[in-house]
Amino acid sequence: VTEQQSVLFVCLGNICRSPLAEAAFSVEMARRGFAVRVDSAGTSGWHAGEPPDWRALKVARRHGTDIAHYRGGQITQADFSNFNHIVALDLENLSRLRAMRPPNATASLSLLLDFVAGREGQAVADPFYGDIADFETTWTDVSLAAAGLARHLFGTE
Ligand code: 4NP
Repeated sequence: VTEQQSVLFVCLGNICRSPLAEAAFSVEMARRGFAVRVDSAGTSGWHAGEPPDWRALKVARRHGTDIAHYRGGQITQADFSNFNHIVALDLENLSRLRAMRPPNATASLSLLLDFVAGREGQAVADPFYGDIADFETTWTDVSLAAAGLARHLFGTE
């Protein structure tokens, strides 16, 4: 029996990259048959209450996942004890998370692409000012990383 794990993915707006990371990791957990709590948040609250960017919705749908029910939200200090793992999509947001991390935090903090061999220390590029091809790149990155993170947390499969 695996202990209940929970993972929170964090980007800036919570409408492009972290919802796609949440979707890809949820797909990976479903594939493995694991009941893991998965969510996403932004370091900003700019898009709180909004659904994902339409390009993220489209790319997720292309890859077989409907994320239309997702809603943007800003990370809170409570999240640092409500989740086991907080995973940043880029280095700027990792820095912001380190800065706001409360002293009693229990969540681990990591960078998503550190779980992909050869991509350590890299950012998932912000596709917000790009086009649909940039969102496809985001999907590729977060899918690779979802598999790598799953291996890191739960072992080879
Ligand atoms: P995300 O992308 O951090 O991947 O959700 C962005 C979304 C919105 C903005 C920037 C990045 N924005 O400036 O509103």
